[in-house]
Amino acid sequence: MSHPIPVILDCDPGHDDALAITLALARPELNVLGITTVGGNAGLENTTRNALRILALLNRPDVPVAAGIDDPLLRPLETAPEVHGKSGLDGADLPEPISEARPEGAIAFLAATLAASPEPVTLIPTGPLTNIGLLLLAHPELKPKIARICLMGGAMGAGNWTPSAEFNIWVDPEAARIVFRSGLPITMCGLDITHKALMGLPEVDRLRALGTRPGDVFADLLFFFTRFHLERYGTADTPIHDAVAVAAVALPHLVGTRPHHVDVEVNGELTRGMTVVDHRGQPGKTPNVDVALDIDRAAFAELVIEAVASFR
Ligand code: BDR
Ligand code: CA
Repeated sequence: MSHPIPVILDCDPGHDDALAITLALARPELNVLGITTVGGNAGLENTTRNALRILALLNRPDVPVAAGIDDPLLRPLETAPEVHGKSGLDGADLPEPISEARPEGAIAFLAATLAASPEPVTLIPTGPLTNIGLLLLAHPELKPKIARICLMGGAMGAGNWTPSAEFNIWVDPEAARIVFRSGLPITMCGLDITHKALMGLPEVDRLRALGTRPGDVFADLLFFFTRFHLERYGTADTPIHDAVAVAAVALPHLVGTRPHHVDVEVNGELTRGMTVVDHRGQPGKTPNVDVALDIDRAAFAELVIEAVASFR
């Protein structure tokens, strides 16, 4: 294997963000340079604390965490307590943090880490794109230091937060538009693929059967996460959205993509936060995004369980 890909996770943990962090830290293909947090599933204080608690669970206090922006660029923050609970990560007995967030904050941390990296870094955002949008506005000179943005967000088809918008893009569409229009290579792991990356009650049992503390905690977290999906969609099979974006970087052969031109609707009365995908391949609409569409459910679930099993 060639040397690991340097990545930074930008997230709002979040049950599926927690699994994304775990997968990223488990994979030898990736070198996690740090984790930045953003307001999304819960407010910034909670998402930062949740990231630190997951690192405590995995006994990885060495991974730098930097707290970013709480409110979206132009709007008040909308959180998702009905999906992730009040804390953003309800349902399990998580350890207290054993490390602290860095004092400089996410934008300064991102800028310094990119500037210092000898090779371009892949960003993996799995929350609203506020931090990344702001980074691109504040530090356009660092674009060459970004190899790719492989994000969880958006959809080619229907949304999940509104009929037309996926949650992460809905929360901060202006930031999302900055990212999608940045000219950087983008992979969009939206609902088209994440609704194929399902885990449910059999996986809760498998995590529990690991007989480890991380196994128990993730069994409880997954069980909590399935509860919302059971109530809302009538099935406990639950998309582990954010871990797909990590899998797409670590093991790209698992993910089928198609190039499309994608832009973000920021004003639509009914379509705010929609990722508008051009299916026609018209002249003048050069594809700017690799849209991820396919993943093998069993292989994905195996990968996630294997990741949790690698921590004791
Ligand atoms: C996205 O929204 C959040 O609730 C999840 O963590 C994921 O990033 C799915 O729409
Ligand atoms: Ca998320």
